[in-house]
Amino acid sequence: MTGMAPDRTLPWDWFPGRVPDNVTIAQTAFVETTFSFLLFRSQRAEAMKVGHGASTYLGTMFDVGREGRVALGKFALVHGARIICEAEITIEDYALISWNVVLMDSYRVPSDPDARREMVRRVPEGKPRFIDRPLAGQPIRIGRAAWIGFDSCVLPGVTVGEGAVVGARSVVASDVAPFTIVAGNPARLVRRLTDAEIADGR
Ligand SMILES: CC(C)(COP(=O)(O)OP(=O)(O)OC[C@H]1O[C@@H](n2cnc3c(N)ncnc32)[C@H](O)[C@@H]1OP(=O)(O)O)[C@@H](O)C(=O)NCCC(=O)NCCS
Repeated sequence: MTGMAPDRTLPWDWFPGRVPDNVTIAQTAFVETTFSFLLFRSQRAEAMKVGHGASTYLGTMFDVGREGRVALGKFALVHGARIICEAEITIEDYALISWNVVLMDSYRVPSDPDARREMVRRVPEGKPRFIDRPLAGQPIRIGRAAWIGFDSCVLPGVTVGEGAVVGARSVVASDVAPFTIVAGNPARLVRRLTDAEIADGR
């Protein structure tokens, strides 16, 4: 049970925050702390859904821009990841996102050095004081029952297929086929899951 109070606070929360109005959390889902929404700026009417039995634990940050939309499917589990979203990030049912993973559907800073320096110069004038540029993102999709190992990074536009495994500390720059294991920087195919492994996971 979320046990979310009518004022959208969480009774067990150590942080004095609220769940944003445009975030829907299933009654059976668990959000450990509203600190996860400190960088949540989406203005969309239905900006985020946390599905039945899903959970987000300490260290998870929803760094979501004005047009961003995030969906966590049934029993999706996010354990301390940074979700950087300007367009759309979908984490499907039973997907598991491990510690310190970064899912980023957009790059926050320009690649041109002059533009980057100018942006950094403007940071002290910002309220709050951080980089917030409206950007066109490329959606990310983490497929059903996929597993993203700790410290990995998934780059803009990537789809990780159903049941796929991303090895720890990988940088995923292109799509991952369903039921495969990839690892490394850039992430490359390690092997395909066996039929027995696929059957076990269903
Ligand atoms: C990918 C993983 C699942 C192992 O899969 P596996 O099928 O048992 O693979 P193996 O250990 O047999 O390794 C196969 C090859 O991939 C390489 N490899 C495995 N994991 C790797 C990684 N994270 N990065 C780079 N290479 C990796 C191995 O060195 C080996 O290479 P080789 O064939 O040249 O010797 C595991 O290494 C991993 O990274 N797990 C993530 C753990 C995690 O994040 N836990 C957090 C708790 S939720």
